[in-house]
Amino acid sequence: MTPSDVLRSHVSGSRSSDGAAQEPSGLFTFSQQVDSWVVRTAKPVSYEIRFVDDVLDPSSSDLVEAGSRGATGGDAAPVRRFVVVDARVDLLHGDRIRAYFDHHKVEHRICVVPADESVKAFDTAAHIIREIDEFGIARRHEPVVVIGGGVLMDIVGLVSSLYRRGTPFVRVPTTLIGLVDAGVGAKTGVNFNGHKNRLGTYFPADLTLLDRCFLNTLDRRHISNGLAEILKIALIKDGGLFQLLERHGGLLLEEKFQGLSSTGELAGAETLRRAIHGMLEELQPNLWEAQLERVVDYGHTFSPTVEMRALPELLHGEAVCVDMALTTVLAQHRGLVSETDRDRILATMRALELPSWNDLLTGEILADALQDTVRHRDGQQRLPLPVGIGGATFVNDVTALELASAVEDLRALQDAGRTAERGTR
Ligand SMILES: NC(=O)c1ccc[n+]([C@@H]2O[C@H](COP(=O)([O-])OP(=O)(O)OC[C@H]3O[C@@H](n4cnc5c(N)ncnc54)[C@H](O)[C@@H]3O)[C@@H](O)[C@H]2O)c1
Ligand SMILES: [Zn+2]
Repeated sequence: MTPSDVLRSHVSGSRSSDGAAQEPSGLFTFSQQVDSWVVRTAKPVSYEIRFVDDVLDPSSSDLVEAGSRGATGGDAAPVRRFVVVDARVDLLHGDRIRAYFDHHKVEHRICVVPADESVKAFDTAAHIIREIDEFGIARRHEPVVVIGGGVLMDIVGLVSSLYRRGTPFVRVPTTLIGLVDAGVGAKTGVNFNGHKNRLGTYFPADLTLLDRCFLNTLDRRHISNGLAEILKIALIKDGGLFQLLERHGGLLLEEKFQGLSSTGELAGAETLRRAIHGMLEELQPNLWEAQLERVVDYGHTFSPTVEMRALPELLHGEAVCVDMALTTVLAQHRGLVSETDRDRILATMRALELPSWNDLLTGEILADALQDTVRHRDGQQRLPLPVGIGGATFVNDVTALELASAVEDLRALQDAGRTAERGTR
């Protein structure tokens, strides 16, 4: 079917009741019969996520070739790139970034942006847009490059989707959350009006280049933070991944996924691959989130509100982990998770150095959080809960009383866990 066939097929059925009035000239016969048009079209989307070794090695061409969609400005045209870099990454890796683009004779502007949750705001996006406009890019073959964590990738994704109604971009994640989560999906966004990711778009990067070398300079706490999103995938769909974390989580944290031992290398590579694969299995059939029951929303029911209220105390993955701890206890109360598995889950959270409690778990805050999430999920809770370890189900009938009982139990388990830890020291 050609586009004009589609139009014709809809035009034919769209005559209004009073549309029969005659024009004397006969010139307007066609338009008189039609007063409603329906346009249907589908946009094919494909994007790639690729592991690379040392993306900033000058002998590697992955980054310089990335995302230009096959088009060029002509052989004689200089290659140009606008590169947005997280300020801390610039401090640690900036010389290599500049040397890489110099080596490949790329005319570039490096836009350094301090990025953490507190500056994940539209103002930061507007600042980047202004700089892009000043530099000037050819929107088909000069993709914006972002090198940073989830915060900067989300902001630059939004910028790219807005700039000239869509400009290709390439992601180089430098945090663990970036590698396994923020760098693989299609969502962009900034916080707004006190709400997490309230402004955003669906706009995947053409290419994401995954280089785990960056994790070497990341704080231990941010490795834990990323392990929380990996644990999420494990709990709701991959029992084997959970076993990897249960057995080797401490080592992965210690080695920062740099493969310093042979066990660390094998476990690290397998953990990353399984986490990304699991995530993509869920995202691909539901990229635009038409289906609101998403297992990958596990841990993201109460956490958006808790994270924003706790800011800057809790990192994203930490807030997600607190949510997962609470909903694990809730699932255990419902008989979906055994006491033994509940304890294995909470022990693994501790081993990954993640929090499973926060004082913001009050009845009032949880009620607010649930209300906001219900609005986000079109009027229903659609709350994912674990079934055993590696399965999930959705519920719509969680009550305030049930939440209060889960909170009480989680607090007691926390206290018991702490006492046991003190005893073994
Ligand atoms: N779009 C999505 O699908 C998606 C998915 C998950 C999370 N997110 C978002 O991601 C954000 C969290 O991402 P994050 O945890 O990467 O946080 P982040 O981007 O704030 O990075 C964490 C900290 O690490 C620093 N840093 C980054 N790379 C470094 C490196 N290699 N070495 C040393 N320091 C480095 C940063 O400067 C920052 O201070 C949240 O805003 C969350 O909403 C988005
Ligand atoms: Zn998340």
